[in-house]
Amino acid sequence: TGTLTLLGIETSCDETAAAVVRRHRDGRGEILADRVLSQIAEHAPYGGVVPEIAARAHVEHLDGLIAGAMADAGLTFGALDGVAATAGPGLIGGLLVGLTTAKAIALVHDKPLLAVNHLEGHALTPRLTEGLAFPYLLLLVSGGHTQLLVVEDVGSYRRLGTTIDDALGEAFDKTAKLLGLGYPGGPAVERLAAAGDPHRFAFPRPMTGRDGADFSFSGLKTAVRRAAQAVGTPDERDAADICASFQAAVGDCLRDRLGHAMAAFRAAHPRAPSPTLVVAGGVAANRALRAMLETMARENGFALSMPPIRLCTDNAAMIAWAGAERLARGEADDLTVAARARWPL
Ligand code: KG4
Ligand code: ZN
Repeated sequence: TGTLTLLGIETSCDETAAAVVRRHRDGRGEILADRVLSQIAEHAPYGGVVPEIAARAHVEHLDGLIAGAMADAGLTFGALDGVAATAGPGLIGGLLVGLTTAKAIALVHDKPLLAVNHLEGHALTPRLTEGLAFPYLLLLVSGGHTQLLVVEDVGSYRRLGTTIDDALGEAFDKTAKLLGLGYPGGPAVERLAAAGDPHRFAFPRPMTGRDGADFSFSGLKTAVRRAAQAVGTPDERDAADICASFQAAVGDCLRDRLGHAMAAFRAAHPRAPSPTLVVAGGVAANRALRAMLETMARENGFALSMPPIRLCTDNAAMIAWAGAERLARGEADDLTVAARARWPL
């Protein structure tokens, strides 16, 4: 295949995003434009994402973001080789806004449409950023996802583990909300945890010691709530100790589950000389967890790769890129393709 240039659209949650990405003949990726508009301010008063507010904000801002991205790239729609949009999983109202817009552009300009799985976008990002070869192990931890995947090939993903209840970022956000730290909570919990005593509260480590690589965080959330109630009105010291104890429990859970996933990866790919662990998602911004992951990768003979934070949180460049990888294989979707709130990889 020759060089492919795609417009990508992402509207599955609370980021409205448009990007233009080029896949060169040799498989190298290049980002020509990458615009993201966060709706954090609109949702912050509610302590979480409100689907109806999100869908309306996507409608209001998407056209402008697409025009901006095309201008940044210096291209007209006619110069594109395809249009990619997230078709799921996510909030259905937002997905409909992005996918319908992509269909309209594809129809009017007679371009192939790529209906992309959002998780596939995350999974293929290290190929855009550093041309990583298959297979690799991916830990995706954000407000919406908690997944351990073996990325075997484009369209070929083996899920080793997922959460059976809350996502990890959600657990950070709920802990923050309980302590009145605002939304999103991850950065605030991390800041307080750095000054706290991780041994003061003996929080549970759900799923550790069990087979497999699934996660569970709702029991931890309940334990945090009980601890907060037990101390009455947590002062700064109590809050810091709760955050530190919570983060230590999270670290232990990740270490245990990742250990199993690394063993499963090695068993499936015994000949991979230097396997790579890719860590992506908003929670990967956490310095304490990053340090733990670095140690663990080193001890287990895995190279560690973390895409730049801007590209491992939600964005449209990863959607355009996933579309480009599929288009390069001759794939495209019909204009009748539907958005899907649930869509496991
Ligand atoms: O990937 P992301 O920006 O959006 C999606 O959820 O898709 O991830 C946001 C999540 C939020 O739950 C936020 O609290 C969490 O990532 N997060 C963190 C940190 N920064 C963001 N969690 C822990 N420590 C952080 N420093
Ligand atoms: Zn995401």
